[in-house]
Order: sequence, then C-alpha cells, then structure tokens
Amino acid sequence: MGIHDEDLQRVKIETDLSGVVSQYVALRKVGQRWSGLCPFHNEKTPSFSVNAEEGFFYCFGCQKSGDAITFVREMEHLDFVGAVEWLANRLGIALRYTDTSDGTNRKERQELTDILEKAADFYHQTLRSGTSAGKVRSYLRSRGFDSETVDQFRIGYAPDKWDALASHLGIPTPKLEAAGLGRPGQRGGPIDFFRDRIMFPVFDTNGAVVGFGGRMLPDGQQPKYKNTPQTRLYDKSKVLYGLHLAKKHIVEADEIVVCEGYTDVIGCFRAGIPRAVATCGTALTDDHVKLMTRFAKRIVIAFDADGAGKAAADRFYGWEDRHNAEVFVAAMPEGADPGQLAEENPSALTDALAAAEPFLSYRINRVLDKSDLSLVEGRARAAADTGAIIAEHPNEVVRDQYLIEVAQKVRIDIEQMRRLVKKPNPTRHQPTPPPGSPPDNSDTQQSTQPPAVPQAELNLLRALVHDPETVTPLALPAMFSNPIAIDAYHLVTTDGWREQIDETPTAATTLIGRVLVEELDADPIELVSRALDAVINRWNTELRYDVHDIEQLRQHQPIVQWLTHRQEEMHSDDTRTAAVEAIVDWLRNQETTGEPDQPSDQNLN
Ligand code: CTP
Ligand code: MN
Repeated sequence: MGIHDEDLQRVKIETDLSGVVSQYVALRKVGQRWSGLCPFHNEKTPSFSVNAEEGFFYCFGCQKSGDAITFVREMEHLDFVGAVEWLANRLGIALRYTDTSDGTNRKERQELTDILEKAADFYHQTLRSGTSAGKVRSYLRSRGFDSETVDQFRIGYAPDKWDALASHLGIPTPKLEAAGLGRPGQRGGPIDFFRDRIMFPVFDTNGAVVGFGGRMLPDGQQPKYKNTPQTRLYDKSKVLYGLHLAKKHIVEADEIVVCEGYTDVIGCFRAGIPRAVATCGTALTDDHVKLMTRFAKRIVIAFDADGAGKAAADRFYGWEDRHNAEVFVAAMPEGADPGQLAEENPSALTDALAAAEPFLSYRINRVLDKSDLSLVEGRARAAADTGAIIAEHPNEVVRDQYLIEVAQKVRIDIEQMRRLVKKPNPTRHQPTPPPGSPPDNSDTQQSTQPPAVPQAELNLLRALVHDPETVTPLALPAMFSNPIAIDAYHLVTTDGWREQIDETPTAATTLIGRVLVEELDADPIELVSRALDAVINRWNTELRYDVHDIEQLRQHQPIVQWLTHRQEEMHSDDTRTAAVEAIVDWLRNQETTGEPDQPSDQNLN
C-alpha cells in the first residue's frame, strides 16, 4: 500500500473516532462509551457504540465493527488509501507516498481534476468576457441569472468551435478523452465534446469539478443537454448537482430538496432555498438517496412524482425503509418546475416547498381533490382509489392511520375502508379519471371495463413491435400483468401477426394498433428495463404480503438483494443491458421451474 507507514500511524493516533462518527451520527455519552443510531442498518433505538479511547466501534444490532478507517471506508465508499487520505485531510496531515504504482493512480485522478478545473475556468472566462458569448450573456440575463449566480455556480460557455477547449488546454487527446471533454477527430486532432453550449460544471461533495452539463442555446443544436460521459471521476448515478454548495444549509435545515434539473437548483438558490440538489440527467438511484441521507433524513421531492404512481411509491417506500429517509413531495403548480417558479413567482415556490407532505398523503390528497365527494358514487370511487394507494404502503400502522382519516373524509365505515385496503392488487387498481370526465357513472363501468394497461407494459409492447429483433429475446409473459397486454404479447410474438390483427378486432389488437402508431421514443433496452423494474417492484410487494415469519424472510433475502442490485444497475447506461439480461434469465428460470423464489444459478452478489 502506498502511504508512508509513519504518516499512517500518525493518522491513526491523531484521529478521534467519536469526532469522525459524530459527523454522521448523533452520539450520546453513556458511561465510558458513546452511543447512537447505527448508520449501517435501520434502527429506532441506538445500538451503535463507540469506544473513543480504543478507537473502535461496534453495533449490537448488525455486528458491524472496526476502527476509524473502516468507518470512513464504509460511509464514504472509499478504499483503504482513500479513507486514510480522507482522515489525513481532516487532520491537516500531508501524506507521503511510498509505492509508485498507487501514487500513479492518485496522480492520474489529480491530473484529471486539474484538467476539469482548467476547463471550468476556460468556459467561465469565455462566458464572462468572450466576444463570442454576448448572445449567451444576454440569454442568461433574460432568464434572470445575474453575475453573482453565474459566479457562484461557475456557469460558462463552450465556444462554437471544433477545438476551442482542446487548443486552450493543449494536452494529449487521450487525456482530454479521459476527462470526458473531447475525442480524436477524423484528421487526428482533438475535437471538443461540448460546443456552443451553456456549461454547468458538476462538482463533487467537496466542490471539485468532476463533469459538466452542457445546455443548448435557445436556437441551438439538439439534444437540449449533453452531459459528461462516465469517466473515472464522473458517475451520474452517484453525483448530485449543487450538493457542495447546499450541504451546510441541508444540515442546518435538516431537509434536502431534490429537483430535476440544473436550472431548478439554481432557481431554488435564487429564491432563498439554498438546500436544493438535482440529479444530472438520470433518475434518482439508491446511491443518490444514500448520499442525501448523510446530510438530512427528510427528502423533499420537487418534481412531478405522481406520474410514476405505484412504481414511484415502491421506490420511495423502499428508500424510507432502507435508508431511514422520510420522503416528502412538494406539489408544484400545474406544469411548472422550480426553475420557472423561481423566475416568475418565487413565493409560490417557497409555499409549495413549505407545504410538502409525505408521499402517501400527497397521493391521497390528489385523489380526493379530483373527487366529487358530494356524490355517493364519487365517495365510493374515492374510497376505492385511496384504498388501493394506501394498500401499497408497507407499514401497517401507517396504513391504518391513513385509512381512518380517509374513511372520515369519504364518510364510509372504517371496517369497510379497512377491507378496501386489505390486499394490494396492482393489476386491479384503476387510475383516477382526468378532471372533467363524468364522475358519477364510473362505478358500474369499473366492474365491466378491463383495467388500464400500465405504462411500463405499454412501453414494452411498443418496443416489441418496433424493434422485435432486440426485444423479443428479452420479453416474457411474466412482464405483463394486464390480461389484454398479455394477449397482445402472445399475438405479436406469433409469426404473421401483422396480417392477423386486421381480421379479428379484439381489445388486444386495438392495443397493438395503438402502440404501432406510437413512436419508439426511447432506447428499447431501457423500455425493457422499466418493465422489469415494475415486475420487480410488484414481486417485492407481493413478497411483503406473502411472507409471514422471519425465517421465510431470511430465505428470500439473497434474491431480494440480488434483484435490488440488478435494479440499480438498470438505472445506469453502462450496466443496463447486462442487468436486463440477467433479470430476464431469472424470470425465465422461474417460469420453467415453477419455483418462484429460488435464485438458481445466479451469482448472488
Ligand atoms: N436532461 C438531460 N438531457 C436532456 C434533457 C434534460 O440530461 N436532453 C436533464 C438535465 O439534467 C436537465 C434535467 O434533465 O437539467 C431537466 O430537464 P429540463 O427540465 O428539460 O431542463 P432544465 O434544466 O429545466 O432547463 P431549462 O430550465 O433551461 O429548460
Ligand atoms: Mn426544467
């Protein structure tokens, strides 16, 4: 290992473990020891214990133990050397390295960081004073980005030239490429990755530049955003835009606001809400949530969270469960995002965030808002719809509290409400009709009309008919829950189906007709992955209701974990395909063996 032994010993001796742990966990002195809630597992009563004198921690709940280096490795996801560096940095100790190979590794990272910092400076200076950036300056001004904001977020402009940055930096093309800033052109010289774009540097938690998001100008070239590809420093599934600036406010307020985009974060800061972060062009991952809960447990979602319905619910409840988070949702006024609100009506933004409510309460209220509670039918429907939503919550006490509240509002007997909440049945859940549709004939229709086809299944069918070569090997009947979708699936996987669909109009052929005219607007593998996401979430929910004792739960643990990992991998571009294939194999295996829960030959990691 690469750190000079003397320095390593110094770090070990000078580190105060309780001080380090206190950065993450509130500790209380109990006798000779310090005690707090374990950061490694979810618990309500403290079983995590620190012996500061020995420099050792131990959890009576999960049996995790170790010294400060182990602790930092786990908490910060670092390797040994990384953890020592982290501790040394905290103590202000300058480390010396012995072994060159390891030093090179670090040197390379440092070199990349230097390149990215120089690039950020170049873009920023170009925006501030470049003659080519006049139009960008006036565009930003028109959106209310003053120069203070531009400086605070180090916003920049990448000139409309093939190699403006490359020639400014004058470094070998492979280095440019490793930093995610360029690639070799056809004539041998380097080509900039970002051209004619407004540049938002993305920082790590400590404020070092790790990548960029490049926004097109109003009349610029699509796509709207270009983001740094995966590099040694940049992993979009782990980074949160704005966190380096927001973290101290997040800790103070004990709340973190999560937006969708760069401009939303900046808008929140401008509106006096400096505790906002955003993902960089990706859905929130488990790693994001883990990172957030290091600073605050209360996560306020400030983007349209209802669109995904049940899928979102499963994800949010999963985070609450696994990361001890509290997921709240701020309802944005129709069609507005925080960036826009900050520009047009900052107080509406503040109000929306202040009125954030727990996700379940948010969903219930949306249903109730749209219901006509003056009609018996409206109340019955609202009871059924909210019942289905409440049933999705994994915690029995929480479910019961909500159903009591709702029963009062829709004036139905609590026992009857309890029956409506009893068993979640995802396939039978009816979405609420859009406002404006007749509220009072739905009850009779509900029993005769087939359930709506879930979006994930529509997407999968669409991918299947538009790109059968890619999708057929990955699609299985088990990915569909809706009976019409299942019929449609069987039909489109039969030879000569295109001829058949005109002859025999059925609900399934109607559905196929619909997906045939829709465009394939996303990568087919990604569509498959979303369908798999839904399958896994459904599987998890069913498991929760089917499993009654700890022993059974323990038996299922490996496969639950395996699925969770694959699910996470599906959220990232580079691991998606392999994860999709692995899950499809697993599903196929289940179908053939009829053994629902055994992980067969999968490598459980
Ligand atoms: N995004 C992306 N690629 C796209 C479009 C969007 O990566 N082609 C990501 C970006 O991280 C962006 C976020 O999704 O910030 C939200 O997208 P959008 O709302 O379209 O952009 P805004 O950031 O809100 O930009 P603006 O306010 O300028 O419209
Ligand atoms: Mn937006």
